[in-house]
Order: sequence, then C-alpha cells, then structure tokens
Amino acid sequence: MVSPIVVALDFPSLAEASSMARMVKAHVGAFKVGLELLWAEGPGVIPTIAGLGLPVFVDAKLHDIPNTVNRAARELGVRGARWVTVHATGGSAMIEAAVAGIDAGSSEAGILAVTVLTSIDEATMATVGIQGPVNRRVASLSALAASVGAEGVVCSVAEVPFVKSAARELLAVTPGIRATGSAPDDQARVATPEAAMAAGADLLVIGRPITRSPDPEAAAAAIAEELAPGRSPPTQ
Ligand code: C5P
Repeated sequence: MVSPIVVALDFPSLAEASSMARMVKAHVGAFKVGLELLWAEGPGVIPTIAGLGLPVFVDAKLHDIPNTVNRAARELGVRGARWVTVHATGGSAMIEAAVAGIDAGSSEAGILAVTVLTSIDEATMATVGIQGPVNRRVASLSALAASVGAEGVVCSVAEVPFVKSAARELLAVTPGIRATGSAPDDQARVATPEAAMAAGADLLVIGRPITRSPDPEAAAAAIAEELAPGRSPPTQ
C-alpha cells in the first residue's frame, strides 16, 4: 500500500459506495467499509469492494465474548478483509480471539483495536465511568492490544506518540482528519492530514472531507498531493 489515505465509504448502498470508490481510487491507498454499509448490504460488499484492487478495512467494531468475536473475525477474513476492527475494551482474551479468527480466515489480514473513539472526549468518558486522561487510556489499551497480536490500533492524532511509545510496532490508524477551518462534524478530537503524518500516523481514515465534498476526486487528489507532493497516484 503506497498511500496512507483510507477512504471511509460511509454510504447506505453498495452502488453509492462503489461509485465513490471508483471516483477516488487513483489517489488513495485503501477503502473502509463501516457499519452503515455492512448493515445495509451485508458482508458481500467486502469482496466486491476488494475487487476494485485496493485493500479493504472492515470497521466492524466487534465487541462480544471471545468465541463469538473469533468466529465473526474469521468470516470477515474469508470474505477478503485486510483489516478488521474490534473494541480494545473487550479485553485481551477477546482481542486475542479476534487475531486467531482472522488468521484462520486469511493469511494476510490483521486486527486493529479501537482505543477511544475520536468522537469521545474526557467529559464523555467520565459520564460512562471511564477514567481519563485519554492519552493514558490509549497507551494502556495499545499495550494490551500489542501483547496479544493486534496489528494496530485506532486512535486520534493526538494519541499517536502514546501508541508508539507503548508498542512501537503497532500501526497507528487515525480518523478525525479535517482540513484547517473545516467543520469537525461529530468528531471531538480532530487534526489535519499533515499533522497526522507528522505525529507518526500510519493510516489516515478520511470520510466526509472527501466523500461529502462537491468534487470527491479533487478533494482526494488535493489531500494526496499535500501528503506527498509530486508523487504519482499510488498503485497497490
Ligand atoms: O467522515 P469522517 O472523516 O468523520 O469519518 C471517519 C470514519 O472513521 C467513520 O467511518 C467512523 O466510523 C470511523 N471511526 C472514527 N473514530 C474511531 C474509529 C472509527 O471516526 N475511533
């Protein structure tokens, strides 16, 4: 994968998601299939999107007992997911079961553990009884995820250094990407693409800034150009 840009295909139909994916494909490195598309169309979307030639990140956000997560992760791996997300707060046995499940389904896929959602700030954490600060929480969940074989974690840009110091080998995957001055939407902890790269992020998950732009292809191209000036469009 050459480009770190992962486009979140947050659409209610495969037709809309595929059309967006084709539009931006030359400028990005992977596609993310999330809950909206998975629930609307089912897991059959995974091989279809993978057929476009870029890796597919399945943002399933699994969180259940280890056996159930193991079997679900296997099914997603079989269908061609390159990455599958689980909630790190499911604990080490659950994350480990997910890793074993995806390994059983695919030799090339890995698990990403979601630490603290980028829509959540410390005040929200407190309302559900989770102690901050966010940084410390992300660091401890990262160490946990790494200890049982996760390939990476999902966190906001501000926490990337804490992920890397907890476990250098983990991929740091960052949603909450916004250009300076653009609307944060429902995201609480946002950063620009350049700031994400400077912080050491490995993959940048970008949805609405590309997919709700009046010209998605131009938006994707502009972000790609900002990240790697003059580089030709990526190929897998
Ligand atoms: O549109 P936007 O760029 O905010 O999309 C971000 C994407 O990343 C969404 O698909 C969202 O579900 C996902 N995500 C997130 N925060 C996390 C994990 C995933 O925003 N911690």
